[in-house]
Amino acid sequence: MDQDSTGSLPYSRRRALGTGALLLAGVALPACGSAGQAASAQAGADPQQPVAAPTPSPTPEPSAGLQAIARTRNLTFGSCVAWGTAGADRGSFANPAYAALLERDCGILVPENEMKWQAIRPSADRFDFTRFDAIVDFARAKNMAVRGHTLLWHYDKWFPAWLNDYDYGSSPRAEAERLLATHIRTVTERYETRIRSYDVVNEAVDPATGALRQTSLSRAMGSAEAVLDHAFRTARTHAPHAELVYNDYMSWEAGNEQHRAGVLRLLQGFKARGVPVDALGIQSHIALLNPTPSVPQLVAQLSPAWRQFLDQVVALGYRLVVTEFDVRDKGLPAAVPARDAGVAEFARAYVDLMLSYPQLGDFLVWGMSDRYSWLRGFEPRADGEITRGCPYDIDFQPKPLRAALAAALAAAPARPARTA
Ligand code: GLA
Repeated sequence: MDQDSTGSLPYSRRRALGTGALLLAGVALPACGSAGQAASAQAGADPQQPVAAPTPSPTPEPSAGLQAIARTRNLTFGSCVAWGTAGADRGSFANPAYAALLERDCGILVPENEMKWQAIRPSADRFDFTRFDAIVDFARAKNMAVRGHTLLWHYDKWFPAWLNDYDYGSSPRAEAERLLATHIRTVTERYETRIRSYDVVNEAVDPATGALRQTSLSRAMGSAEAVLDHAFRTARTHAPHAELVYNDYMSWEAGNEQHRAGVLRLLQGFKARGVPVDALGIQSHIALLNPTPSVPQLVAQLSPAWRQFLDQVVALGYRLVVTEFDVRDKGLPAAVPARDAGVAEFARAYVDLMLSYPQLGDFLVWGMSDRYSWLRGFEPRADGEITRGCPYDIDFQPKPLRAALAAALAAAPARPARTA
């Protein structure tokens, strides 16, 4: 989405949602719920009788990690991750509680913010890779792949100030080409094959009109197409091994028609001009924004146009990547069981549809835990409740959304092993 992450948000214990049963590694441990009460009542009735074993959870979490399930279908499951220092309450690899979720479920990681220009390029002639290096090192140590996000967020709102104000001099086109190529070459040569897939360009299409956004780079180079083409060609030259992705947030909800049409035009243009783009990155911040009497009915309304869009994309020869999945739950009631059920049902339908495309190989969520989700800041609920769009809650306990992802991955048609 065209909104940067808020990073870690203050955690309010007051808002913490009590979990009746702790679900750990597939085992339901009744903390204080009905199964525990039943057990003590029984023990009280006849102290000689052994205490009954806890009733298993009616919907046990599969004990396998999501990546372990995904791998059986030749899929890869992953998440974004942030930089952080040890002890910081952040969605970082250095936070043991968060790292445990990544290690349990992920085969691929993507930096939440640490590879953006604002993070790695403090000025035209300086790079700082300290934070992103630490993420790549963690992924390597844990045997996980890495996606690079993003070589160019082509939206002036997210450019560093120095780039918006840059003086391109008397040969603006050549200077813009140099500036952009230097960036892409510096990043791709540094990480070589340690990054297997790049969001080369992020969010270049204006969702309101479907037209390409203009920036200081596009004004210097004469057109937005010239900038985007140059970015992909440079990436192919310096990272010939990598999958090159155009990433955007056109989505399946009503209201995205212009955005989808604009992205399709862009993808057609890439083909016509012979630009090396391998895949469309579908961010997938899917949204239940209004009260919805029936999720299946809503899904039935949304699916045909969405399938038509995906069919057109794959017919052009593009692969698909789900790059930033989460669920915006504003339209659902506050009550946690109903909310979690709605989120899981909506997600399952979407994920099943996406995984029905054999062109999709990588599926990444935008954060594992509600505790650190950008949605808390980007789209707070009117009732003040914490958003519940990630697989784990603020106490790192798995939710029905995680079970829905596990079931969808397990049910996905197996695809050919990936070569890239
Ligand atoms: C967009 C960007 C991401 C991130 C999210 C919000 O989707 O692509 O990098 O900034 O918004 O966290």
